[in-house]
Amino acid sequence: MKISTNITIFGGTGDLTFRKLVPALYIMRRTGKLAPDARVVIIGRRDYTDDAYRTLARDWVRRFSRLPYTEADWDAFSQSIHYYRMNFSDPTAYSGLADCYAQHEIGAHMFYFAVAPAFFGTITEGLKTLPGLSGSKVVIEKPFGETLEAARVLNEELEGFFGAENIYRIDHYLGKEMIRNVQTIRFANPIFANAWNSQSIESVEISALEDVGVETRGGYYDAAGALKDMVQNHLFQILSILAMERPDNFTSAELHREQLRVLRALRPVDASTLEDTLVLGQYAGYREEPLVSPKSTTETFAAMRLFIDNDRWRGTPFYIRTGKKTGTRQTEVAITFRRSTPETDPDVLIVKVQPTEGVYLRFNIKRPGDTEDIVPAKMDFCQNCILENHINTPEAYERLLTACLNGERAWFSQWDQIELSWNFIEHLRALVAQTALPVHPYEAGNRGPDAARALPEKFGHAWVEEDD
Ligand code: BG6
Repeated sequence: MKISTNITIFGGTGDLTFRKLVPALYIMRRTGKLAPDARVVIIGRRDYTDDAYRTLARDWVRRFSRLPYTEADWDAFSQSIHYYRMNFSDPTAYSGLADCYAQHEIGAHMFYFAVAPAFFGTITEGLKTLPGLSGSKVVIEKPFGETLEAARVLNEELEGFFGAENIYRIDHYLGKEMIRNVQTIRFANPIFANAWNSQSIESVEISALEDVGVETRGGYYDAAGALKDMVQNHLFQILSILAMERPDNFTSAELHREQLRVLRALRPVDASTLEDTLVLGQYAGYREEPLVSPKSTTETFAAMRLFIDNDRWRGTPFYIRTGKKTGTRQTEVAITFRRSTPETDPDVLIVKVQPTEGVYLRFNIKRPGDTEDIVPAKMDFCQNCILENHINTPEAYERLLTACLNGERAWFSQWDQIELSWNFIEHLRALVAQTALPVHPYEAGNRGPDAARALPEKFGHAWVEEDD
């Protein structure tokens, strides 16, 4: 049989595969983004027949598919799933995988490493022993390694075998509808494009607040903390998209080049500026979470005040905050414009990423009636409320897997971005240790510690609340 694309998922019985990858592939097949002759080889250690695995996967698809599940679509898709039992840590196991591939004529391979980064190298070594796989596409998830040094070594190994242009590093925030929309809102509207600079913008805020705690991931999270788990990747990606110069054209290479320039222009932080740059917090009860050290000082909340030292942004602070157990789920970007006079309120543009997808704009108008009073007007556009039944925004993984199949690299992290962000965060962490920066406790349900609220206030700013 001829197979156009063979997608192999290592870590086939893990949470990511069940919740995200299989449901995404199911929709892709249904919407014509995955060819009918594509095959999905699921690799896991447990003993399943194809049918047993398909039955298991069907339940997850039923729960997590963004479109209503249908038996006919599932039947069509599930026939493409093949389960292959293997211990991928065992170098001798790979010859069997070679036999599995040799049964078909395969057009192209794509690998998905849905496993801990400690296994990336082992799997790559194993795949090297199979014929014809170098230069295949490979998708990997963060964290890309445990330390920057380990990540560098791993990256060299992956690039050596697959080729730099074939590595797709997933940052699922880049698959979110409204993150993609930031560029359009900014560049397709002269009212914003012409004002997108420090002359017109007083401050920029990026918030990613979560309601959930660390749940079952205490072991991983306790070693990572909010800075590495959210800031270094997702929030720095958003920051660089918001702040970049308009690329000459929107190719992957140009977008990445402009994003990289932003990261390079981040103002360095030293011990004397640390307190005005970073506030850390930990929610009450975090130390009792499973697999978390009872003495942990890991931050579950981080608030930052950063500057981009280039002509466009000099003087405009970028406030970033993210945290767990904050009593709300809210990811958004808020742009506060400069006031026209000291007495008027600033105009505010909010791009809402989740759970609502939309745009909010606050601006000044005259109070109706026989008065010249100026009052704020609020316009609130909720995209997913209106379009919900018509469009149903593709899920991030669906979008990113499709992009990978099509060889579109723009919405994946590049190694040099990761390296720069990682360097910045590691330097901050070293300063935290050196200056013994406190990790403030906060009650679960609060939007971080009081010190995080005070950070912008110290400089005459505040975290933007929509209903202010
Ligand atoms: C992941 C982090 O990358 O993003 C998690 O590891 C976090 O800790 C998650 O909860 C948030 O993603 P989302 O899509 O729910 O905002």
